[in-house]
Amino acid sequence: MSVPVLTIDGPVSSGKGTIARRVAAELGWQLLDSGAIYRALGLYARAQGVALNDETALVPLAERLPVRFCEQGGDTAVWLDGADVSRELRDEKTGELASQVAVLPAVRAALLARQQGFAEAPGLVADGRDMGTVVFPDAPLKIYLTASAEERARRRHNQLSEKGFGANLATLIEDIRARDERDMQRAVAPLKPAADALTIDSTHLGIAEVVSRILEAAATRR
Ligand code: C5P
Repeated sequence: MSVPVLTIDGPVSSGKGTIARRVAAELGWQLLDSGAIYRALGLYARAQGVALNDETALVPLAERLPVRFCEQGGDTAVWLDGADVSRELRDEKTGELASQVAVLPAVRAALLARQQGFAEAPGLVADGRDMGTVVFPDAPLKIYLTASAEERARRRHNQLSEKGFGANLATLIEDIRARDERDMQRAVAPLKPAADALTIDSTHLGIAEVVSRILEAAATRR
């Protein structure tokens, strides 16, 4: 019997990460934060002195990417090549590195099997950009979570301030628009809702409301 997968795709700072974590906890399922894999690859490439557009050199790095995720008190610690990179991984600059390596088709192909390997019993909640369209096309429930760029920038700003990172709201809005553009326009696995996805616009919804809508949908589709 195949493992049930619930995919949550959407643009940067749409709340996917937080919502995927809560939904996974409610269902008692595994969690895949696919963005963290692309972020880890961006950091690893930089550490190895490999250019972020050198597709040929990036593929072997993607194949052997020495990343480990360790659940720790409701959060995930990320270890890369023996070092704890949890904090650096979440930095805006690392998101920028990730979105550069993520445009390369051979890099995406090299990371596919690793992502699919997260599908373990009793089920998986997978968050990213192409979880429902490419990585788990047969998932019985696919969510596309979005919100306006301004609202996403405001949330990101609050999140960064809480973590002690400084950020300028106007710059964040610009960065979010640029990242949306790159993620939506790229030739391979562009960010878009799967044909059978349920779209949730969270601009005016709280986290609890979004989580309960997803759990309701999950209950009817299982
Ligand atoms: O979700 P997160 O902000 O951590 O993702 C960082 C970047 O990695 C995204 O902007 C996107 O370019 C890339 N990404 C992707 N496909 C995924 C997850 C992330 O292309 N499934």
